[in-house]
Amino acid sequence: MNIEDLSLEEALELRNELLQKLELWDAAYFQKDQPLVEDGIYDATKKQFMQIVDYFDLDEPYVKKVGVSPLKSSSKITHLAPMLSLDNAFSYEDVNEFITKANRFLGLKDVFFELVAEAKIDGLSASLTYEKGVLIKAATRGNGEIGEDVTANVKTLKNLPFTIPHMGLIEIRGEIYLEKKDLDDINAERAKQSLELFANPRNAAAGSLRQLDPEVTAKRPLKFFAYTVHSNQSIPDIKTQEEMLENFQKWGFVVNPLFQKLSSFEEIEKFYEELKTKRPQLPYEIDGIVYKINDFALQNRLGLNFRSPRWAIAHKFPSEQKTTLLKDVTFQVGRTGVITPVAELEPVDINGVNVSRATLHNADEIARKGLMFGDTVILQRAGDVIPQIIGIVEEKRIKNPKSILFPQNCPCCDTPLVRKEGEVAWKCLNGFGCVDQLITKFKHFVSKNAFNIEGLGAKNVEFLYHAGLIHSFSDIFRLSEHKSFLENQPGWGKQSVDNLLDSIRMRQEITLDRLIYALGVPQIGISSAKLLARSYKTLDELYLALEDSDSNLINIDGIGDSMIYDMRSYLLVEETRKKVMDLKELLTIIPYKNNSVISLFSDKIIVFTGTLTKMTRSEAKEKAEQLGAKVSSSVSKNTDFLVCGEAAGSKAKKALELGVKILNEDEWLEAVHP
Ligand code: IVH
Repeated sequence: MNIEDLSLEEALELRNELLQKLELWDAAYFQKDQPLVEDGIYDATKKQFMQIVDYFDLDEPYVKKVGVSPLKSSSKITHLAPMLSLDNAFSYEDVNEFITKANRFLGLKDVFFELVAEAKIDGLSASLTYEKGVLIKAATRGNGEIGEDVTANVKTLKNLPFTIPHMGLIEIRGEIYLEKKDLDDINAERAKQSLELFANPRNAAAGSLRQLDPEVTAKRPLKFFAYTVHSNQSIPDIKTQEEMLENFQKWGFVVNPLFQKLSSFEEIEKFYEELKTKRPQLPYEIDGIVYKINDFALQNRLGLNFRSPRWAIAHKFPSEQKTTLLKDVTFQVGRTGVITPVAELEPVDINGVNVSRATLHNADEIARKGLMFGDTVILQRAGDVIPQIIGIVEEKRIKNPKSILFPQNCPCCDTPLVRKEGEVAWKCLNGFGCVDQLITKFKHFVSKNAFNIEGLGAKNVEFLYHAGLIHSFSDIFRLSEHKSFLENQPGWGKQSVDNLLDSIRMRQEITLDRLIYALGVPQIGISSAKLLARSYKTLDELYLALEDSDSNLINIDGIGDSMIYDMRSYLLVEETRKKVMDLKELLTIIPYKNNSVISLFSDKIIVFTGTLTKMTRSEAKEKAEQLGAKVSSSVSKNTDFLVCGEAAGSKAKKALELGVKILNEDEWLEAVHP
């Protein structure tokens, strides 16, 4: 439908219809933590609404309103160690790859590590802290490092021990869940009271746990399965996951009974197929299987990736597939100017979620799938993964279908799009000049892993932008100048403005890695931002390195040429530089703090060369980083140590010339495991 073709009367009618939906959805989203529709539908509706308001120049109070005041937030708890998530496997090949990778990491070949397979419970992970044997705290996972304090509510659970025979400080982690029948009962009760129904047990568990009033939680039959532990001391005689699960039971926890030890790939296949068949009859929802390498010593050697352990993987069950109609394709402009085609679909329900959009990734993907307008497509959604179009139903192709044409100009700012040689993405290079890009840059800037400004979600960012209050990053920290304007906006009020300004003020102090990530340089994610922050103590140092064409940036292991290229092209252009410098003035930037132990290698630059025989390069590298060192890929006068394996060549020679300290593999091992 073309907005321009509407008469004013029709437009007003449509506006009323859309407004009614938006207000309903807002209330559910902000106040009950219970989205009624998928983000895509919300955004599309909002966009259409805004188009009408803009085109017909309507004076619209809703536009200025920013959500609904949030519920009082509870206090936070920092986990003893981060609560991680798991990598997903969607096929046996993926599981095999997991085993191969673990082998490669440890320098082994074709070893089948004994695994413990557990059901992956679809609930909410929680950590319970016991001190001197007593349950003292309970928290949700939150962002992995800091969770919400739900102690009072968790204490209403009936299948938990309040005391355990372990005197140290210990965190027991597991899943809080609701049984399917209990969800049905709760929903039946809610239906009677004309309350919104919970879409799945996970949402219901989350909603029940996050109640402000523990009495409400107490009425919900939440249960807990224990599956892992974090402790500041090891638990004597417990050396495997299997022993840990048995021990949990001795301590009075309930462990999911479906776990099993597996010793071959055939056993994996058997277990997976059996559980998949049993799944519909189970009293609770599961969405896959978690395989964990049983031996804790191996787990320790394998260690962690950025967010997930190398010693475990979640093997997801296949998701439900549905067919639906491809109605249209829209083109979105992302933070870095990449144009993403999005399929607009006739809404269908998949696993309890209403799906109306799916990303088509890029122009090649559309061609590869041979998609045409009006096609009937096969859609799937695997667990928490965004919906995917996996193919088309050929027999249902309409006569003379129209092809999908990729735009030549930016759908937001009309700048001609470009595609670099060898890349698949079409990009709008207008940067800060393109409104869609600018808004997504702001959203990224305030997001969880960046400045993490509470109360500044996507919708508020859009509002602030459209209200003309933020043009550049630093404007966010000048919002207090607009306090009275904001307070007078419908839906804001003094309290919510105060809260927002407080949380912005709190974030004026930021660690360098978060700041680098927040700037939104293409390709610079959280882990590369950390690598950069470890090497450069200040933003100015990073800038100096970027300006110097033969700086040692090129030497950071994990920062490749194309990342350096992107950093230079983004951060050094005058416009960005000005914005960044302007922002810097308003912040207190904390140098990156390494969590590693203080050691001989703290802050030292180490290069590995030659073949190591007792550990792989990756294991050695990780060990060095744990000890606070920076691992570099080439030797220079800044290198502190060169560790030489067998057949070390030119690097050893260069190190000798430069007088860099050289260790052989045994000396290195001696130093790290004294
Ligand atoms: S182990 C470092 N075991 O799955 C390992 N997780 O996708 C941490 N989950 O956040 C998790 N059942 O909420 C583990 N038997 C199980 C699980 C399980 C469900 C959840 C958990 C975690 C998510 C990761």
